[in-house]
Amino acid sequence: MASVTLKGVKKIYQQGGKDVTAVHGVDLEVKDGELVVLVGPSGCGKSTTLRMVAGLESISAGELFIDDRRVNDVPANDRDVAMVFQSYALYPHMTAYDNMAFALKLRGMSKADIDTRVKEAAGILGIGDLLARRPKDMSGGQRQRVAVGRAIVRHPRVFLFDEPLSNLDAKLRVQTRREIARLHQQLSATMLYVTHDQVEAMTLGDRIVVLEGGHVKQIDTPMNLYERPRNTFVAAFIGSPSMNLLAGSLAATAVRDASGAKGLSGVEFRAADGAFTMALGAQWGSRLASRVGRAVILGIRPEDILILPESSTSERVGTVRVRLDVVEPLGSEAFLSARVGAKEITARVPPRGLPAAGSEVELVFNAERLHFFDAESGETLWVE
Ligand SMILES: Nc1ncnc2c1ncn2[C@@H]1O[C@H](COP(=O)(O)OP(=O)(O)O)[C@@H](O)[C@H]1O
Ligand SMILES: [Mg+2]
Repeated sequence: MASVTLKGVKKIYQQGGKDVTAVHGVDLEVKDGELVVLVGPSGCGKSTTLRMVAGLESISAGELFIDDRRVNDVPANDRDVAMVFQSYALYPHMTAYDNMAFALKLRGMSKADIDTRVKEAAGILGIGDLLARRPKDMSGGQRQRVAVGRAIVRHPRVFLFDEPLSNLDAKLRVQTRREIARLHQQLSATMLYVTHDQVEAMTLGDRIVVLEGGHVKQIDTPMNLYERPRNTFVAAFIGSPSMNLLAGSLAATAVRDASGAKGLSGVEFRAADGAFTMALGAQWGSRLASRVGRAVILGIRPEDILILPESSTSERVGTVRVRLDVVEPLGSEAFLSARVGAKEITARVPPRGLPAAGSEVELVFNAERLHFFDAESGETLWVE
């Protein structure tokens, strides 16, 4: 296996005589044996990036290395990479066996060696009994395995996957996702995997590259993306239901010390539409002091919101009183939605003892788990 290095790799297409930049410069090092996922909404440049690595698309600027070899101008066939497409792209008139054997025959490999490789791949994928079938006589999941088998028999230095699970139904997608994870471990293979599905990205990736509009928004491990998103795009894209993002501003508050003297400065968050004000504990004061007076976005994940039943006494400090719009029990958990000012926010709570829709509750935001972003740039204000 091999490493793959992209240095400022860019793609500019010509459209109606104009330059359109589809990929604005990707810097990435996929280590030997690593599985890196490219994820982002449709049209963000995932396939284009992958196709440039495969050699199916020219590189407009920047450099691409496989191990130490610069391959910008090396044709696809000589890059020693194998790509699996969403459409499988199997030859309809050939059996599964011949589909897998085809590229090896072209290379002039002996019949006996081809047979060994096809059977080895079939064994890994559990499709030994399908080898005589044609694509039309196989299910989607079986075709997908043959397509992966066709990549495996080549013993490539790098595997490239472009949305390989998108044509499968939900159940088969989960099963096949696990098979790809297992394959990755079994082969210790270097893999670059494209998907628009953040669950697939989170579950498969050693690291994940989040793309938007041809720009890299963050490259990180799944848990770092989730817990320390660098911008509102990543914050909203990774995680379901999405992180709640609330516009507002930061204001200074005077806090009295033990002797009653004013002067210790605290910080509070004021929601943009006056929906609520929330004192941010001492831990936020020093981190955000320089941002006082600025417009910010407060982020809080649904599971970091606690629900307190309506209290007859006065409002507790640091809570937001709301009327629940929708209560959605899922069995293992429940989603509660409520309006805070103009914004709908979602909490993820245990499924038992749920308050009823229409009832009033107080929301408590876990102060340890707040995120703050600059309102203009969307960039995080503070990272641990
Ligand atoms: N051959 C092409 N000519 C012109 N524009 C293209 C071509 N291929 C892709 N694009 C544009 O490049 C952008 C990225 O496309 P693509 O990489 O296919 O996105 P993704 O795979 O993330 O959905 C899109 O705006 C798309 O319209
Ligand atoms: Mg694509």
